[in-house]
Amino acid sequence: MSTELWKRVDEYYCGLFLSADDVLDSALKDSDAGGLPTIQVSPAQGKLLCLLAKSGGAKNILEIGTLGGYSTIWMARALPDDGRLVTLEVVPKHAEVARANIARAGFADKVEVRLGPAQETLDVLQKEGVGPFDFVFIDADKAAYPEYFKAALNLCRTGAMIVADNVVRDGEIVNSDSSDASIQGIRRFNEIVAAEPRVTATVVQTVGSKGYDGFVIAFVE
Ligand code: SAH
Ligand code: DHB
Ligand code: MG
Repeated sequence: MSTELWKRVDEYYCGLFLSADDVLDSALKDSDAGGLPTIQVSPAQGKLLCLLAKSGGAKNILEIGTLGGYSTIWMARALPDDGRLVTLEVVPKHAEVARANIARAGFADKVEVRLGPAQETLDVLQKEGVGPFDFVFIDADKAAYPEYFKAALNLCRTGAMIVADNVVRDGEIVNSDSSDASIQGIRRFNEIVAAEPRVTATVVQTVGSKGYDGFVIAFVE
């Protein structure tokens, strides 16, 4: 087994199931040109987020960690005509590139990019009474996943789905002694999810063009 093979299999499936996509290609190209890191979800993972949101009939989506708006565009495609998506980003350049990518994708009216530290913006959303959300994608700084989960849960309706990215990290997640703050943050997040009576959760481990990683998927009961 090798990352090279995982890549080839991803390309094989994407060749079959994903159409040529100028909007997403341009989003990646402009993210690259803007110097953004190449850490967006893979095409197959983006489509998974889209299908999960769509199957739940999500009308209000929250994303924590926008980057260049690649996963944002995938999820926005799941929205009905009157659907909305709010995505939170702390780096001004990322938000600027994302807004342009989202506008080109035709979602300027449905998607709002909120600039600022996500924890603060989540407090503001709570105070504004925004939501409730039907679908949440947590993908910002991993050390703060516990706080993001607690805040997101309070903004969700019963029947919502909360998906968290990068929960495997080449298997490093099982290293309880890890000195990596991201790993410790995700381990704490996992314990909070496990102990939270309002959700029931599982994991999807993934290999592919983005290596070996995974999603925690929590369903709000
Ligand atoms: N969801 C994107 C990738 C997000 S990468 C995709 O798959 O296409 C993580 C993003 O979270 C980066 O853009 C980073 O700047 C942002 N981020 C990091 N810390 C943050 C914070 N405290 N508040 C908001 N965003 C943050
Ligand atoms: C990193 C962050 C991500 O959200 C991701 O999907 C991959 C990598 C990172 O910070 O290294
Ligand atoms: Mg991620």
